[in-house]
This record gives sequence, C-alpha cells and structure tokens, in this order.
Amino acid sequence: MSRSAHPAGPRHADVLPEGHYTAPPTDLNALDEKVWARTVSRNDDGVVRVGGIEVTRLAEEFGTPAYFLDEADFRARCRAWADAFGKDADVFYAGKAFLSRAVVRWLTEEGLNLDVCSGGELTTALDAGMPAERIAFHGNNKSEQEIERAVRVGVGRIVLDSFQEIVRVAHIAQSLGKRQRVQIRVTVGVEAHTHEFIATAHEDQKFGIALAGGQAAEAVRRALRLDGLELIGIHSHIGSQIFDMAGFEVSARRVVQLLAQVRDEHGVELPEIDLGGGLGIAYTSEDDPREPHDIAKALGEIVTRECEAAGLRTPRISVEPGRAIVGPTAFTLYEVGTVKPLEGLRTYVSVDGGMSDNIRTALYDAEYSVALVSRISDAAPMLSRVVGKHCESGDIVVKDAFLPADLAPGDLIAVPATGAYCRSMASNYNHALRPPVVAVRDGEARVIVRRETEEDLLRLDVG
Ligand code: LLP
Repeated sequence: MSRSAHPAGPRHADVLPEGHYTAPPTDLNALDEKVWARTVSRNDDGVVRVGGIEVTRLAEEFGTPAYFLDEADFRARCRAWADAFGKDADVFYAGKAFLSRAVVRWLTEEGLNLDVCSGGELTTALDAGMPAERIAFHGNNKSEQEIERAVRVGVGRIVLDSFQEIVRVAHIAQSLGKRQRVQIRVTVGVEAHTHEFIATAHEDQKFGIALAGGQAAEAVRRALRLDGLELIGIHSHIGSQIFDMAGFEVSARRVVQLLAQVRDEHGVELPEIDLGGGLGIAYTSEDDPREPHDIAKALGEIVTRECEAAGLRTPRISVEPGRAIVGPTAFTLYEVGTVKPLEGLRTYVSVDGGMSDNIRTALYDAEYSVALVSRISDAAPMLSRVVGKHCESGDIVVKDAFLPADLAPGDLIAVPATGAYCRSMASNYNHALRPPVVAVRDGEARVIVRRETEEDLLRLDVG
C-alpha cells in the first residue's frame, strides 16, 4: 500500500466552497461509534478492524469494493428490537433494506419476522427456512402469480394496497379454498420530514388507501364482506429515515380512530395494527437516532392511550424496521485510485466503486461519513468529495467530508452505515460488478453474497 504523500488539496482554512459540512473534526483518525458498526475499532498500529479482523486483511482476501457486515451487531440489533417490543408485539425486519439467505437465518434464530415485497424476496425467505406464517407480503402492485404463491405457501399476512387488490387477493384465496389473513394499508395524511422520494403517508403518492374521504373505511367494508379474506388489522408506513416521533404518533392516533370507526360500524374490533418502519439512523455525527426501547415505549403509550379513550381493547402492534437494523452494521471498503485537488474547490478522491454500489447520494442527496482505515495520519484535514468510477459527474459517494491531506492511491477508505439500501439497490451501471457482502464475526469472515463476475454479466446477455 502506497504511503507516499500527495500534494495537499485545498484545505478548509484556504477556501470554503459551498457544501454541507461543519468544521473539520479535531481528530480525523477517531471513529465515531454512532456511525460505525459495534465491533469496529482502530488497532494500535492504526489499521481499522471489524469483528476482530483488520481491513487490510479483508481487502486482500475479498478485494474492494466490498461491504463488510458485522454479524454480532446485526444480531444484537435484532434482539434489541425484539426485547423492546416484547411478547405482545411483533417485529418484522423489512427485507428490502438488505436480504440474503444468511440474513434470513439470523432473523429466524433471533425470533424476528420478515416483511417481503416481491416474489424474489419471498423466494429468498422461504429458501432459507423462514416459516411462511412469519412473513408479511407487501407491495402496491403484486402480480397474480406472486399473490397466488403467497397464499399457497401460507404467508402470515398480505398487506392490501388498493381496492383492486382487495378483490384480487380474495378471489385467489377463495379459488385455492383458503381464507387469507390480510391487513389494509392506509395513508394517514402525514407529511413525514424526510426526502420526498421516501415519504409515503401523504396523499399524493402511490401507496395505500387514504383515510381521507372515508376511502379506508370503505376498503374495510369491502374486505369484511369477502369470504376469501380474514381482515386482521390496519397498516400504516409513513416513510423512511425519520427521526421525529411526531409523525408516528399522528399515524398511530389516526389508525386507532379508524379501528373505533370499524367497531362502531361493524361491531368488529380488528386485533392488530402495524405502524411500519422508517426509523432513522446516524449517517454522520450530526444524526441522533432513537433507541428501539424509546420507540417501543412511545408507540405503546400512544396506542394504549388512544384505545382507552375510544373504549377499544389495545391491538397487537407490529413494526417493520429495515434500515434501523441493518444500516449501521455494515461499511463499504474502497481503495483510493486517484486523488485530484481542484484549487479553490475541493479534492476529488476516486474510488473503485461508486453509484453502482451506493446510489443513495445521487438519488436522495444522502449524507455519509468516510474515514481512512488502512493507517492513521496526522496530516491536515482536506475537504474532499469521494467519487466513483462511473461515467457521470453525479457519481458521488460522499459529497463533503474531510480526509487527511496525505491521502494517496492505494489507501483504503471506508464509508460507514451502508448496510441498508446499498447492496439492495446496487446496479450494473457501466457493467460494474456488484460487490460482495462479507459477514464478519469473532475473527472469521464469510462471504454471504459473492462478488459478481464478468461471466455473470455475459450469462444474462443471450443475444
Ligand atoms: N415497511 C414498509 C411498508 C416499507 O415500505 C418500508 C420501506 C419499510 C417498512 C422499511 O423502512 P425502513 O425502516 O428501512 O426505513 N431506498 C430508500 C428507502 C426506501 C424505503 C422503502 N420502504 C433509501 O435508501 O433511503
């Protein structure tokens, strides 16, 4: 690994180009535990390790770019969510954040349930042994084949997303001689404070059935009339990467009001409510996520209070965290390829991956942290932009960050908190090969999703 000094790029002291950053950290070698997986630390010799293994060794064995996932951290987070919600509630891990067979096995062992939203996720879940009754099936446009398969294998619930789907699922279940447990997804009219592409409870978007105008009440009416359906509850998911509990509270309150309305109209008390996922995690030191225990307490209190006020039995609550479980458990390891100082602006640090392994920065203007992990440095902080190798100027992984001014080709840098929605949204843009996911635990590293190869690319290309 080269350690040669590179001409220093523009420093914060020289210029302050526009961008989102605070003052450079006092110690560039420090690893903020808020954003790094739990077993990550820096050795005395300056090399960062995870699960007891140095990143230099990991890079040698598995190559870069690669995602390294701290299995102990993942399992601990599953347990924290399960313990926080207790035996009167259910935690469904949202597989869209990241799903693989190993993940399914960890979930099964740690007592969590699973939310899937496609036939592919369902296949992965079943293949790895998740009992069907612990699976919730989501999606705003499930195909008839997907519905039929879900009903046949006996998923624990299908979350209905439209009036057409109510009829579709009922017919399929009836034709199979089954009665499918379902929830109805409602949009509660909350503007969650997050990026507009990941907010889902306002009215002008594709998910769910609006509470407004009595539409959700009408959906309940129709679902209760159909023999193929057993309506077990109401579902609400307000968005993703949310820190403020106020949106969840409004959502819980409105869902309980619908339960009261259903009881008044039909004499039926629906036994379950699902309040979705969406809890934010720390991508940078400025983010302050809540602990599962606080979330469980806040949601439990509001539901209990509202139910008491409405004279309802408290329903069984479920939640669907994805990002909050897997997000903090992984980092992406890259090798620095080129370092290009732009006078008066910032230094562009090009790595061997990019928007194909992390589209979140380009898509949502997401913020990330980054650190030099193959050594320590006492060089001055250098305002940097970490970019990928794709043919696009928007190919940015970390928009504004400070790295040491002696950063050089061959150094390893890592971007923490990439466990959620990075590998699962990875692409083959420019025929990039999607990186592997390597689980690390107690001094052992194991590939759980292998790196794509050029043969994989050619196998799909049958022209
Ligand atoms: N439940 C439902 C019905 C959902 O639609 C989602 C996420 C979740 C649970 C899990 O949300 P989480 O706890 O992970 O925030 N690709 C975007 C996030 C899209 C989220 C889609 N639905 C991102 O990278 O930020």
